[in-house]
Amino acid sequence: MNKSVGENGHLMIGGVDALELADLYGTPLYVYDVERIRANARAFVETFKSFGVKAQVAYASKAFSSIAMLQVAKQEGLSLDVVSEGELHTALEAGFPVKRIHMHGNNKSIPELEMAVKHDIGCIVVDNFHEITLLSHILDEQQRTMDVLLRVTPGIEAHTHDYILTGQEDSKFGFDLSNGQAEEGFLKIREDKRLRLTGLHCHIGSQIFETSGFRLATRKLISALSQWQRNYNFTAEVLNLGGGFGIKYTDDDDPLEFDQYAKALIEEVKQQSDHYAYPMPEIWIEPGRAIVGDAGVTLYSVGSTKDIPGVRRYISVDGGMTDNLRPALYQAQYEAVAASKMREPATQEVSIAGKCCESGDMLIWNVALPEVSPGDVIAVFSTGAYGYSMSNNYNRFPRAAVVFVEHAEHHLVIQRESFQDLTRLDVSYE
Ligand code: LLP
Repeated sequence: MNKSVGENGHLMIGGVDALELADLYGTPLYVYDVERIRANARAFVETFKSFGVKAQVAYASKAFSSIAMLQVAKQEGLSLDVVSEGELHTALEAGFPVKRIHMHGNNKSIPELEMAVKHDIGCIVVDNFHEITLLSHILDEQQRTMDVLLRVTPGIEAHTHDYILTGQEDSKFGFDLSNGQAEEGFLKIREDKRLRLTGLHCHIGSQIFETSGFRLATRKLISALSQWQRNYNFTAEVLNLGGGFGIKYTDDDDPLEFDQYAKALIEEVKQQSDHYAYPMPEIWIEPGRAIVGDAGVTLYSVGSTKDIPGVRRYISVDGGMTDNLRPALYQAQYEAVAASKMREPATQEVSIAGKCCESGDMLIWNVALPEVSPGDVIAVFSTGAYGYSMSNNYNRFPRAAVVFVEHAEHHLVIQRESFQDLTRLDVSYE
């Protein structure tokens, strides 16, 4: 969270006054500090480099996909994880190097797979038996081959501080390692001359604050690989350990520095490779939230206030679950400030409400703020991941604009939706 304060007591984002941005572009407004995005990316990339370990850091574009964002990812030498034709289309429009694009999905459609094959992307992460059949058929038709990873569910589910070990993971994603389906999938791919299996993939969860779940997953995957090497003479080139590296939303969150996650993965992959005398594979990871989460701030304007004496004070802002669905969907917690009153003491505890017709449309319960009045700007921090990407038009609110700030300059990178945009797809019925 970048909470620097200007001489005038205003919140500064990437060297620009938040109030100036709100005035210029209107609210609600997503603002990204691009230097922070780059620093987050580099924390991962540089760590692998400094250990001389071959790696790909694939930005999980579901966290926030736009042409400008993917151009920054490209500039930082990241690879890219896409899960749909729409995400792939955005990557192509951004001029993202196709060989660094990986495609995910538990129910990839024929058009999705055809698009991936046509553009000859770097790899497809195969998720299920049906997909093997579809992909094989498409490759036959197009007389092409494709690098694939096999997505396995290792029976580890990680959330923040805990991980749960489940013998057989109840997940819609991937091939189960413990019941033999992963091995069956492996054999099916190996039979197919058009599929070139380069390794395994797993993703154990999101917003993870420790390394033990990742380490355990690494152990399980390399153990399986070593068995398959002995039995089938297959040696993996790649081990993709997914995303899920946690970030700080509030002061209660205490994630590791990003380089610590990378170091732990390197250490564990090295140890396990040594243990099984297995050639060390390339390490691929897929951070989404960690790249963009704490680089994003949402600016809102204050509107009405409702006091319920002895109960609470609601302060309503001009956005809500349309631009940030996470509080309503996951009870996600955020911190907020009054952007023009950074030096004023927080004298009241309030709850920040959105403006949708839905009682659950609350952005933050119980946050300490200075006195605010209509028109004041509130900034909510760490909204860079899964904010814009899960935004919606409930109540036909136009989606907010996105601004990038870097070197104390601001650039509009996604325009605010217009009312014309809202009815653009409607067809008259009279
Ligand atoms: N790789 C795979 C295969 C994934 O499924 C995901 C996230 C990621 C990478 C990136 O995970 P991250 O590093 O961003 O945690 N909408 C939810 C998050 C859903 C994540 C789904 N998969 C949220 O707002 O918290």
